[in-house]
Amino acid sequence: MAYKLGDVLISREDISKRVKEIARQIVNDTGKDNSVILVGILTGAAIFLTDLVREMPEDMDVRFDFMSVASYGDSTTSSGVVRIFHDLKNSIEGKNVIIVEDIIDTGLTLSHLLDILKSRNPASLKVCVLLDKYERRKTEVKVDYCGFRIPDKFVVGYGLDYASKWRHLKDIKYVVDE
Ligand code: IMP
Repeated sequence: MAYKLGDVLISREDISKRVKEIARQIVNDTGKDNSVILVGILTGAAIFLTDLVREMPEDMDVRFDFMSVASYGDSTTSSGVVRIFHDLKNSIEGKNVIIVEDIIDTGLTLSHLLDILKSRNPASLKVCVLLDKYERRKTEVKVDYCGFRIPDKFVVGYGLDYASKWRHLKDIKYVVDE
């Protein structure tokens, strides 16, 4: 079956506004410590993370790194067992860590990733997602920062792909049958 781009679900203006709000929330929550390490999950979260960090103030200790993981399973079902392809460069022990992900769907990937990162003893570990397909959740995951709750439809753009395509779109759009 072939797919094509459908309507816009979230416009670039709405994304930009929400990214600023989330950055402000994160900055307020860091309090006196004023330091945070954002862990972006490749490849989907790359655009979101790089926009997010540029909304944070110069006098804050903001660091970021990326991890690349894949969940075992077929193309549409995530098993939640995560294989690490690319790991963090530095230790996160004693640090305030926020995982940054493009979308939470079943929650299995994030749940497993949280277990992995928790075992490395960060001072705190939070979750920030741009999109939340909450209807599809199979396991409970505490999402600390969420951009938008969306319906159970496949979307692309702003980092999200279908078969590696359409990540570069500025808006988030539906994918529909051709
Ligand atoms: P889960 O929460 O373990 O089910 O998996 C989340 C992952 O599924 C995300 O990181 C995306 O790679 C992928 N995903 C789920 N829904 C979509 C979508 O609508 N568009 C693009 N990728 C999606």
